[in-house]
Amino acid sequence: MLLGNGGNGTPIRRIFTMLAMFAVLGMLVNWVWVIRTNSPTSFIAPYGSEIPNVLPADPHPIQRLMLEADQKVLTIERTRSRTFSETVTRYRKKYGRHPPPGFDKWYRFARERGIWNVDDFDQIWHDLRPYWRYSPKELRRLVRGICNEERKVAHLSCFTLRNGKVTPSDQDWRATEFKKMLEVIKGYLPDMDIAMNRMDQPRVIVPWEDMQAALKVEESSRALPSIDKVRNEFTKIDLTEEENAEEGPLPTGEWFGMKTDNYMDLANVACPPESYARNPDTMSRKAVEATYKLESGFVKNFNLSSDLCTVGPIIKDKHGFLFSPSSVSASNKLIPIFGECKVNINSDILFPANMYYKNDPRYVYNPSGDIPWPQKSPTSFWRGITSGGVQTPENWRNLHRHRFVLLSNSTELSLSSTNTTIFSPITNSFTSSWSPVEFVKKHLDAAFPRIIWCVPDVDCAWLKTFLSTVPKVKLTDTFRHKFLPDIDGHSFSGRWHAFLKSRSLGIKATIFREWHDERLVPWRHFVPLDNTFEEFYSLMVFFLRGPGWRGADEEAARMAEQGREWAGRVLRREDIEVYMLRLMLEYARLLDDERDTVGYAGTGEEVSV
Ligand SMILES: *[C@@H]1O[C@H](CO)[C@@H](O)[C@H](O)[C@H]1NC(C)=O
Ligand SMILES: *[C@@H]1O[C@H](CO)[C@@H](O)[C@H](O)[C@H]1NC(C)=O
Ligand SMILES: *[C@@H]1O[C@H](CO)[C@@H](O)[C@H](O)[C@H]1NC(C)=O
Repeated sequence: MLLGNGGNGTPIRRIFTMLAMFAVLGMLVNWVWVIRTNSPTSFIAPYGSEIPNVLPADPHPIQRLMLEADQKVLTIERTRSRTFSETVTRYRKKYGRHPPPGFDKWYRFARERGIWNVDDFDQIWHDLRPYWRYSPKELRRLVRGICNEERKVAHLSCFTLRNGKVTPSDQDWRATEFKKMLEVIKGYLPDMDIAMNRMDQPRVIVPWEDMQAALKVEESSRALPSIDKVRNEFTKIDLTEEENAEEGPLPTGEWFGMKTDNYMDLANVACPPESYARNPDTMSRKAVEATYKLESGFVKNFNLSSDLCTVGPIIKDKHGFLFSPSSVSASNKLIPIFGECKVNINSDILFPANMYYKNDPRYVYNPSGDIPWPQKSPTSFWRGITSGGVQTPENWRNLHRHRFVLLSNSTELSLSSTNTTIFSPITNSFTSSWSPVEFVKKHLDAAFPRIIWCVPDVDCAWLKTFLSTVPKVKLTDTFRHKFLPDIDGHSFSGRWHAFLKSRSLGIKATIFREWHDERLVPWRHFVPLDNTFEEFYSLMVFFLRGPGWRGADEEAARMAEQGREWAGRVLRREDIEVYMLRLMLEYARLLDDERDTVGYAGTGEEVSV
């Protein structure tokens, strides 16, 4: 009974007195919190300086999560490598190998582009590890095979690199962007073939047992031969000749479509035997949730909250990609395909999404339209099309985008007129008597400017009886609002970089993994949102002012600013190029016949930038 809606008659004076007391308490907490957070450190970038190691007496769970995130970021910042020697030493310690050939050149390339953290590339390592199980020759043959399949079957764009010349197999927009990225780095790379996914959806689902076997091969092949046995150069190979000498049928992708009703049925095989996904009937859902959510409902482990082996059974009928994907073409074979995103059980090799490199005004952040935080309206704002899965009259209310839009529709909510349970920032506990209608009307705005792609009729006449379209907005117009939720479409959302770079606060719910994930820290650079959206109201109630509650505007502003500052440092065009070069060097080593004895084996002392 915290945020208004108290007025149903009887002890109204008592309620007012109570509210007044809460208000005073709220102001007090607010005042203490502001003073404490602002004093010892700068607001924007406390790197290298002390962070406030203090919390209010009865902190809100989000204040605690923010503090933990600050500490995590400080640790990363304090321990990152500053020199090339430190970088290579750390590489060997972490991965048990020498860095790939040309790593010294990569390091210079990265420093020239003002890289912030040279260590931040574990994703590449994780993505490529299983592919050590193939010999270089097998791997080259596999790429040749899947690239030879008919495009309609394979849904791939392929690239050949020969003597520094990049040739794409087609003119798909993704291929065109990918080629642009390769053009920047081709001078550092040997001849090779690359297969890129052209679908929105990820492709490779390797059974867990096969994956463990593949990882074992990688582990057992680790070695650090001495410098006299290692060449810092890729081995020359004539790929055209090799191709011409091919005999017999080439391997294929063995692609299949959606075989059952739910993607989890395909995904389960890739999960560990002891995971919730494989034991949904015997494991406790509550215990599983406790691994990634606080009791208050806020996400404490964003990684696990989007791990399908963990949350799959919980969200299998809540995310369109899982129960109604617009298209699936998958394989159970370990196939080296470069993709823009994946869910955790996929083995696609991530690269920075083409959309992030393309200068498309629908997705690129343009600061000229942005405004300072205090001038933004205290609203959560979302616009998008009705993507995310095939929409039918039976399933549309479960699709993730549609669910989100319904949560923000006060008319819809007033029809059902039930109260909702939220976590109250005033009492720091749950309350079940919160009526969302007024709050939603005032603060939440989510709608579809276009309602399309329905089944059975493409124009969605039936869906338009439940939802109405709103005028289209430009990306910059969204920055008039303080809070910008980012919700998956058919796959990841290409607006995420822009949201992070803006002065607004990004709120992220996703099941997809992207290249940049490990460099973004939840509760420091953005607000993580559970894929059920169950805590969305609680989040917004915390941030916004309400009766008896100060509204955690300071906290929101701080995260928005931190996210912006950080994205401006690690999600630049240059960072994409740096990632691509390191990725391609590692990939080239995998394809190298002498991969165990090529690499950078020096001390790193000769490079002094
Ligand atoms: C995410 O979770 C998985 C599974 O528990 C784990 O293997 C992986 O290291 C985690 N990644 C990060 C970045 O924490
Ligand atoms: C909803 O909560 C309000 C207090 O916020 C209360 O007055 C009202 O009776 C509740 N309604 C229902 C249906 O429980
Ligand atoms: C909100 O819900 C009402 C009632 O169901 C519906 O008529 C309206 O079109 C919805 N608004 C939007 C923007 O979808």
